Amino acid sequence: MSGAKDAIPPDAVALADYEALARERLDDNAWAYLSGGAADEITLRANRSAWDDIRLLPRVLQPLSGGHTRVELLGRTLAHPVLLGPVAYQRLAHPLGEIASAVAASAQGAGLVLSAQSSVLLEAVAGAVRDDASRGPLWFQLYWQRDRGFTRALVERAEAAGFEAIVLTVDAPVHGARDRERRAGFRLPPGVSAVNLASAPAAGAHPTADSPARPPKRPLAPGQSALFDDLLLSALTWADVEWLRSATRLPLLIKGVLHEADARQAAALGAAGVIVSNHGGRTLDTAVSTAWALPRIVDALAEQAAAAGAEAVPVLVDGGIRRGTDVLKAIALGARAVLLGRPYVHALAVAGAHGVAHSLKLLRDEFEIALALTGCATPGALSRAVLVHRSD
Ligand code: FNR
Ligand code: LAC
Repeated sequence: MSGAKDAIPPDAVALADYEALARERLDDNAWAYLSGGAADEITLRANRSAWDDIRLLPRVLQPLSGGHTRVELLGRTLAHPVLLGPVAYQRLAHPLGEIASAVAASAQGAGLVLSAQSSVLLEAVAGAVRDDASRGPLWFQLYWQRDRGFTRALVERAEAAGFEAIVLTVDAPVHGARDRERRAGFRLPPGVSAVNLASAPAAGAHPTADSPARPPKRPLAPGQSALFDDLLLSALTWADVEWLRSATRLPLLIKGVLHEADARQAAALGAAGVIVSNHGGRTLDTAVSTAWALPRIVDALAEQAAAAGAEAVPVLVDGGIRRGTDVLKAIALGARAVLLGRPYVHALAVAGAHGVAHSLKLLRDEFEIALALTGCATPGALSRAVLVHRSD
């Protein structure tokens, strides 16, 4: 699984160290894709600064014995609230790609969300970890495909392979305006592709370097838009979410929600969870940060559930999570768990599965320390009482 090349560098003591080391190892092409955001990358930066702008107000001398990092999620007890989020084309970072990430997640009891645009077959990734008793949840992220039959077949493959939930990503009906990728002339290198979508009848509704928007069926009239008058004609809508809900027996989570009304609609349609995300600032630049959106969505869903006498669906969040204190802030704001994107891919590029496992361990250790130092023995003890907004 690894060679000397995959050794953990002694100077990697925080997730940011892996980012700097990955920059040295990856070529400009891979770096532009794996680290970039949309346009001016304002949202990419805002995701980070929003966590930093929340300050902690610790309590001292609290009883901490029996503390732990466990959380409950979709009927399972997780060792800690960190999952590896869906990131496409991980073989850009390491020859073993998604397999290495899955093995690392499993070793650290972290959940894994495999991208629909994985560069390794979903059956191979599930097969590598499915029978590991201490692994975290194994979820499959779905990009809506033009063809419902193909979408259904993909979901059925994920079910058969042992995935336990479907995460439908809804914030990327089209690739964002990725200046960094365009400047670098980003291309998938030979041997890296979205292998699970290879047999799609037509290119997916999410055009990418290897899966571009297919040419319009009929030539566009002057003044027509290739986006609105062709590509987006088959983009996902709430009606498709309803269809998908009934097409799978697996719990369905909706990823890429920033507006309270969308979160309410997802819950009303039977979603098992909502993932507050702006795609790591890769889709709509200047979209709000996830730390800003999270508490609003948590409150909206709590209110909706209370009105129905039901329990609110869990809310997860990603974007800019780099420190144990970020994890703590997310949980204190009401998230059940967090997802990582770029940080683990940087660790993957530097030290393969070892690097990813190490970065998860670093984050979990930091989270434990942050819990203890805020005077909270468990994630369940966290509340907004430990948070202060910097402007306050
Ligand atoms: C992503 N993200 C993503 N999301 C998704 O639903 N499906 C996907 O295939 C991908 N692919 C992808 C590739 C790369 C290179 C990145 C960086 C991100 C978004 C990802 O799941 C997550 O929302 C963000 O990456 C979280 O932000 P951070 O942790 O990268 O700041
Ligand atoms: C991306 C797609 C694959 O962010 O989600 O590049």
